[in-house]
Amino acid sequence: NSKKFMCFCYTDKEEVVLWMNTVGPYHNRQETYKYFSLPFCVGTKKTISHYHETLGEALQGVELEFSGLDIKFKEEVMQTTYCEIDLDKAKRDAFVYAIKNHYWYQMYIDDLPIWGIVGEADENGEDHYLWTYKKLEIGFNGNRIVDVNLTSEGKVKLVPNTRIAMSYSVKWKKSDVKFEDRFDKYLDPSFFQHRIHWFSIFNSFMMVIFLVGLVSMILMRTLRKDYARYSKEEEMDDMDRDLGDEYGWKQVHGDVFRPSSHPMIFSSLIGSGCQIFSVSLIVIIVAMIEDLYTERGSMLSTAIFVYAATSPVNGYFGGSLYAKQGGRRWIKQMFIGAFLIPAMVCGTAFFINFIAIYYHASRAIPFGTMVAVCCICFFVILPLNLVGTILGRNLSGQPNFPCRVNAVPRPIPEKKWFMEPAVIVCLGGILPFGSIFIEMYFIFTSFWAYKIYYVYGFMMLVLVILCIVTVCVTIVCTYFLLNAEDYRWQWTSFLSAASTAVYVYMYSFYYYFFKTKMYGLFQTSFYFGYMAVFSTALGIMCGAVGYMGTSAFVRKIYTNVKID
Ligand SMILES: *[C@@H]1O[C@H](CO)[C@@H](O)[C@H](O)[C@H]1NC(C)=O
Repeated sequence: NSKKFMCFCYTDKEEVVLWMNTVGPYHNRQETYKYFSLPFCVGTKKTISHYHETLGEALQGVELEFSGLDIKFKEEVMQTTYCEIDLDKAKRDAFVYAIKNHYWYQMYIDDLPIWGIVGEADENGEDHYLWTYKKLEIGFNGNRIVDVNLTSEGKVKLVPNTRIAMSYSVKWKKSDVKFEDRFDKYLDPSFFQHRIHWFSIFNSFMMVIFLVGLVSMILMRTLRKDYARYSKEEEMDDMDRDLGDEYGWKQVHGDVFRPSSHPMIFSSLIGSGCQIFSVSLIVIIVAMIEDLYTERGSMLSTAIFVYAATSPVNGYFGGSLYAKQGGRRWIKQMFIGAFLIPAMVCGTAFFINFIAIYYHASRAIPFGTMVAVCCICFFVILPLNLVGTILGRNLSGQPNFPCRVNAVPRPIPEKKWFMEPAVIVCLGGILPFGSIFIEMYFIFTSFWAYKIYYVYGFMMLVLVILCIVTVCVTIVCTYFLLNAEDYRWQWTSFLSAASTAVYVYMYSFYYYFFKTKMYGLFQTSFYFGYMAVFSTALGIMCGAVGYMGTSAFVRKIYTNVKID
């Protein structure tokens, strides 16, 4: 398929292939079936081939099959019958079912997607009609195809035991659309460039400025006061100090660098979070530079490739943190870290795959693709993780903390209910969620309703804003926690940032019920399954970002205070 990599050029009368892709309910965009799962007939050209080009396509359920229509470059075809359907009772029922569920189908000409409606019911829903005439209008610019329009005509009533003739025609028109711009008509600027988009960015941006200002002001002032108080206490003699009221975060200096509970899981989560962060960053940058939407499945393929390539990041941060916390079973940690995200994604995909197979949906992942994904996990992700882990353990695995850790843990004093870690965790996610939820609407809509998402610049801004807000919020949370002389800050900072994901998942419920018209077991489990994966990944990423920021902050404040 050399066209793909060369110029998409055609010579006159060269064959142009119309690929049939999928058919499915209009409201359930992910519930797709092979086009020929409906009893459509195939054109006269008899070679039916079938191919999956890339991993991304196979995973997204692209099922290209040759239509059998005879189309040649710049050759007009008048209305021609290409095949006839012998409509028996079973076939009629299949079509009626499809029409009742508003089925539509998708085709491709030269990588340009085309959509059409299967049929129509009359007002009282008794008679059902099939569109039988596909009128194709293809625009060409020089020797390349730049535009395709489909008009469905020829409404035929579905009556059992009749023959229905399917026909097509092709018209060629000169077009001024540049080849590079041929995907522009699929983009929806009125949806994305909406004022609300700028408004949301502006809003979040003001929030960031406000928050950063607030955090730095509070912390600078309080910390300066704290330091002044602590150094005054230095000068008092022992007698005075016993009577003096020492309190606040300095009191926990002997515990603050105590390893977190469950260090293995914790460091694996942090490592995975750092990896997700770098994957998001790189994929967004690639998407900003290249128009990934012009090629089927290329976004997913890119993401998988970048994920595999950034595995050393996971190993490095996970492994070094585990070593710093004094963990010994580093091989086990590495396995957990490496397979945490793949296992979560594959587990969900596996579960949904069962339903897809049951439904005979084209989303069912082919066996060969599963094997390919497993191979990537074991032969690419794992070794790269190992490299990262070894580097991390050797380069930054030393626990060079500014304070020694006491042998005996200090008891955690009683505190007000709103200082409990659980409460802090719940509240922590609100602001980060607030800074992204409008963008979430655009991302959800483009993913679940097939608008092509192309404003990756916005997405980048939102990612940066999200990270800044998350770090600020977790630092404030941690400061309050330590001031209440509770030293369990590691999990608290991670979870208070990660709770953003809980709000995002709750938002996805709202989105499902009020913004979409999805129905049925398959689409519902697909939606909630992958939303859970998305939210969890987002949560782990926010958690890791929050923890990294907070850990720098904690190290900083304890470095600057004198501890006897
Ligand atoms: C397809 O339809 C659009 C909008 O109606 C029109 O501007 C364009 O010229 C059509 N293209 C062809 C090839 O007919």
